[in-house]
Amino acid sequence: MSFEVFFRILLGIKTVILLQVRLGLKQTSNKYPEWLDLLLQSKFFMPCLNLKHEELRRGEINVFCIDCKACLCQHCFATPMHSGHKQLQIRRYMYRDVVKIDDMQKLMNCSHVMPYTLNSAKVVLLNPRPQATKPPTKSNETGPNCMRCERMLVGLNRYCSISCKVKHNQI
Ligand SMILES: *[C@@H]1O[C@H](CO)[C@@H](O)[C@H](O)[C@H]1NC(C)=O
Ligand SMILES: *[C@@H]1O[C@H](CO)[C@@H](O)[C@H](O)[C@H]1NC(C)=O
Repeated sequence: MSFEVFFRILLGIKTVILLQVRLGLKQTSNKYPEWLDLLLQSKFFMPCLNLKHEELRRGEINVFCIDCKACLCQHCFATPMHSGHKQLQIRRYMYRDVVKIDDMQKLMNCSHVMPYTLNSAKVVLLNPRPQATKPPTKSNETGPNCMRCERMLVGLNRYCSISCKVKHNQI
């Protein structure tokens, strides 16, 4: 084998390795789908101003259309434009936005996120509760803390909210 042929083979291997590294990086950053990012940044429970839906019963924004990545009220979601689309209903628990685990589990694995009980259904917080002024100090006497934001948890849970699970696993 001439030196030139050997050198080209070496160069080829290097290209393949570089390509694999790039693809690998791309895959990790795609782990967190865009709809989930938008869902976690959205505000819910404002009146729906579309077609005066705010005047109807349940005319507040409490549906997230996964296909359109949009926040809607139930009346908007019921229009033919969204027929067959996947949706997630947002609920309120102690003034925070929550989703039923049964609904969310179809879209992502909710295990280890701290559950709450709302009307006999298990729900999880979308985002962490507001933090008290100083962050809690990690202590071995106070039970487990959220893997991302260190808020106190109970039981065998590792995350306080969907957001903390998604963002912790992302890093
Ligand atoms: C969800 O994640 C947990 C822990 O990572 C795993 O044990 C479980 O099998 C997963 N469930 C599903 C439905 O993928
Ligand atoms: C907490 O940790 C400290 C130092 O690591 C140890 O001395 C103490 O016994 C621990 N307390 C408990 C309740 O485990």
